[in-house]
Amino acid sequence: MKLIIAVIQPDKLFDVKEALVAANITKMTASNVIGCGQQMGYTESYRGVPAEINLLKKVELRIAVNEEFVKPTVDAIIKGARTGKIGDGKIFVLDLPECIRIRTGETGVQAIG
Ligand SMILES: Nc1ncnc2c1ncn2[C@@H]1O[C@H](COP(=O)(O)OP(=O)(O)OP(=O)(O)O)[C@@H](O)[C@H]1O
Ligand SMILES: [Mg+2]
Repeated sequence: MKLIIAVIQPDKLFDVKEALVAANITKMTASNVIGCGQQMGYTESYRGVPAEINLLKKVELRIAVNEEFVKPTVDAIIKGARTGKIGDGKIFVLDLPECIRIRTGETGVQAIG
């Protein structure tokens, strides 16, 4: 199992969600976050010379998947979020040791799917 964490532009959330659903990925968690990448939030927002980092509004998606869904999930996020401009976002793929469905006590691949 893997936990896919993606940080995307907030205005791409709808497109990413549509691409995920089209790929049959329907379980996800989304949060409003702030962050910055290699431009330290400045080139992206055109606020002048950076004196310190500038945290910009982003959306973070968390999606736990079985192994066969890792590539479809990553591909869907890219399809929905990529503009080719700086600040399009980043995807982190983490090993996920366990998942438990609270209602049933199911664990592992049964609980995720
Ligand atoms: N190494 C990192 N660790 C944690 N969060 C990161 C990291 N890189 C990017 N992020 C998060 O992802 C968001 C989007 O990053 P961004 O797309 O600007 O990455 P980048 O490396 O600067 O690439 P680009 O040059 O295309 O902008 C950041 O605002 C931050 O929240
Ligand atoms: Mg950047």
